[in-house]
Amino acid sequence: MKPEILFLKQEDVIKAGLLDMKMVLAETEKTFKMIGQNQIINPTKVFMGMPSNENWDSYCMSMPAYIGGDVDTAGFKWAAESKANAQLEGVPYGIDIVILSDPKTVFPKAILDGTITTAMRTSATAGVMAKYNALKGTKVACLVGAGVIGRTMIMAMMEAVPTLEKIHMVDLVKEKAEGLAKEFDGKIKVIPYTDVKEAVKDAQLLVTETTSRKPFIKKEWLKPNMTVIQMEGQSCEEDILLTADRVVLDNWSQMSHLVGILVHEMYEAGKLKKEDIVELPEMVNGVQVRQNEDQFVYCGSAGVGSVDIAIAAKLYENAKKMGIGQKLNLWDNPLWV
Ligand SMILES: NC(=O)c1ccc[n+]([C@@H]2O[C@H](COP(=O)([O-])OP(=O)(O)OC[C@H]3O[C@@H](n4cnc5c(N)ncnc54)[C@H](O)[C@@H]3O)[C@@H](O)[C@H]2O)c1
Repeated sequence: MKPEILFLKQEDVIKAGLLDMKMVLAETEKTFKMIGQNQIINPTKVFMGMPSNENWDSYCMSMPAYIGGDVDTAGFKWAAESKANAQLEGVPYGIDIVILSDPKTVFPKAILDGTITTAMRTSATAGVMAKYNALKGTKVACLVGAGVIGRTMIMAMMEAVPTLEKIHMVDLVKEKAEGLAKEFDGKIKVIPYTDVKEAVKDAQLLVTETTSRKPFIKKEWLKPNMTVIQMEGQSCEEDILLTADRVVLDNWSQMSHLVGILVHEMYEAGKLKKEDIVELPEMVNGVQVRQNEDQFVYCGSAGVGSVDIAIAAKLYENAKKMGIGQKLNLWDNPLWV
């Protein structure tokens, strides 16, 4: 038998439906439900910073998962980011690939571009957090970071918070926020800003997706009962998490051990314990995070590989039905068997 691998480049995964945020949100929520119901094996990521984990210029990270239930797929995302890429025209900051394997035969069955999947699922994770925790009738959201994930974050918030009327989009580089405002013209009102303090003033929801390596958002800029969703390691000052009434994180064991992120620093300093937080799989299986409209709710995420694998599995099935992608063989005749 020859393992036949379907190679899906970025254009193929897009053809297979990746930009459908409604689908990605549904798959993301379903995956977190399955994690909570022990249908998924989701080992902790292995992070390899170069030249060092503490002071990386670039990193590669391995994210394996097995998805049970009706999905029944093993897989692995090789996620990577490079600071240098942020300065290069036409090159993404993060570049990811996904490999899917048959869980019984362990035959590799697909290799897919995972870069846009990462952006879609990251924003969908924030979308699930917003769906459950945004204040009722939220009209204004402030989004910080108008990059790749900033764009998919607009898509996710439009879908997850149907009452949303306006997005205040902040970026250090004004042209990036202006670019997204133009791109979403006619779909939702996006107003560009460079100053978070000004942009967050009348927002009920704050979502961050910057490449900042140090905190810059202050608690005193925020309303006492809003929802904050932090999708990267360092943007909110510690006070924001420390004084939150309720905290939800996508994966405690991962976030408490990931060097360089706020949750890890607070855990190491003894300021945050597992008992202080709800995990996202618990939340989608019924544990209420926001209990009333007066609470300040903090949501944090470092990303969970099983969500990438679940979405990749869906795209693979779609691609097979559509007959797209390039077929590859791992061998013609395997040696020494
Ligand atoms: N939680 C997750 O699952 C997950 C997954 C993937 C990426 N991320 C994180 O999301 C972040 C964004 O990734 P991306 O691919 O969109 O990067 P990107 O380079 O495309 O965009 C980042 C944007 O943030 C802006 N920015 C940086 N510092 C800022 C500041 N202080 N104030 C305002 N804007 C600022 C930059 O100008 C840039 O436009 C990264 O930190 C990445 O690690 C999180």
